[in-house]
Amino acid sequence: MSATGDTKAITPPDMRLRKGQTPLVCLTAYTAPIAKLVDRHCDIVLVGDSVGMVRHGLPSTLSVTLDMMIMHGKAVRRGLERALMVVDMPFGSYEKSPEQAFRNAARVMAETGCAAVKLEGGETMAETIRFLANRGIPVMAHVGLTPQSVNVFGGYKVQGGGGDAERIFRDAIAIAEAGAFAVVLEKVLEPLARKITAEVTIPTIGIGASAACDGQILVVGDILGMFTEFRPKFVKRYAELGSEADAAIGAYAADVREGRFPAAEHLYADASKAGDAA
Ligand code: KIV
Repeated sequence: MSATGDTKAITPPDMRLRKGQTPLVCLTAYTAPIAKLVDRHCDIVLVGDSVGMVRHGLPSTLSVTLDMMIMHGKAVRRGLERALMVVDMPFGSYEKSPEQAFRNAARVMAETGCAAVKLEGGETMAETIRFLANRGIPVMAHVGLTPQSVNVFGGYKVQGGGGDAERIFRDAIAIAEAGAFAVVLEKVLEPLARKITAEVTIPTIGIGASAACDGQILVVGDILGMFTEFRPKFVKRYAELGSEADAAIGAYAADVREGRFPAAEHLYADASKAGDAA
């Protein structure tokens, strides 16, 4: 059951009805225990290709593979009951042709049990989005700063401040017309996010794109303070689990070195208890 009492599983068509309503709450998850925690609070749970950076220590999302996404997708599926599960298509798995995208997205859906996939790109991906949507694969789009194109942008730069604003607007219109059920707007200036949200018929999900969007998404490790390599301005920290974990591991190390752990309560010294499970 959700934190608001809803029990019904959320589907891609539900998303259109949520446009302009209470803001959609979205987070990433990559493992079953975190999926379990976020499920009751979130409308959408994204198995993002950010997993490459925040779980595998990769320098960008570019070397994330389909197999990695499927492995994390399967784990997340086991932790979800209600939230809409979306899995990111990794770089190189969908751009070549609509047929390539269909083959790989169908595999992701069949093997993970997710309800939808996400892919990056605007006008250039519209044909692919239409191809997938017409063949049973709901698609969440992603425009503005698209991290898989970091080398084209020359860094993780804010988008929509110049001539690119018109292009990003056209991107959002094109993917909505092609049949995407929602669109992530990443690192887009507020006036542009507001204009896109007003014009497209599907919900906009912002990440660094202002409260003008129909919903918000962040990387779960960022809000929990578990991923501390860098912290974009758009992240709000709700916990400092990284420093709590550091303190806990330090306390364990000191206990072992100083002979305080294991203590009497951790010992199996009684022969009558041999074979017990715990
Ligand atoms: O990979 C990811 O986590 C994303 C975001 C939108 C957070 O694409």
